Amino acid sequence: MKVLIVYETKYGNTKKAAESIGEVIKEAGNEVTVVKVDAVEMDNIKDYGAIVVGSPTYASSQAGSIKKFISSLSVEKDTKIVVFDTHSGDGISTGGPMRRAVKKMEKQIQKNPNLTKIMNGLQVAVKGIQGPLVEGELEKCKIFAKEIAKNL
Ligand SMILES: Cc1cc2nc3c(=O)[nH]c(=O)nc-3n(C[C@H](O)[C@H](O)[C@H](O)COP(=O)(O)O)c2cc1C
Repeated sequence: MKVLIVYETKYGNTKKAAESIGEVIKEAGNEVTVVKVDAVEMDNIKDYGAIVVGSPTYASSQAGSIKKFISSLSVEKDTKIVVFDTHSGDGISTGGPMRRAVKKMEKQIQKNPNLTKIMNGLQVAVKGIQGPLVEGELEKCKIFAKEIAKNL
């Protein structure tokens, strides 16, 4: 399946998570494109059977660019979608009022009848604001990606 992995990033952590997820999905035999949100070619978006969206958490929400991307998605019926965030954290406590980016992205997805959420989103912790990723988080990304590949 053709899979598009779209991310926003300021310090590179979300890109790193996106690339690691992409690698695993590719190894499972899919055609994977990993791209920063401002470089997505929206004219070709209908070519993809599945989309993975990754966003840093800003003020407990997804990045504005990602919000815009999800709301402007014009895709074929039954396009599969799954999201992940990065946030300041310790990798243990993922809930709380400052970590709602995944929930908010999933709420947006619900509004588009052509999108099918195939799995619950993943929350990926970075140290402080700039990272790096908390130890063990990249491993979580890989396990998440293996599950995605099974659901394609
Ligand atoms: C302006 C700003 C607001 C942020 N707000 C939150 C927040 O509400 N909750 C949180 O857990 N992390 C917050 N963070 C931390 C970011 O989520 C973190 O910098 C991001 O995951 C790094 O991703 P990147 O390396 O891909 O840019 C904030 C960071 C910035 C710069």
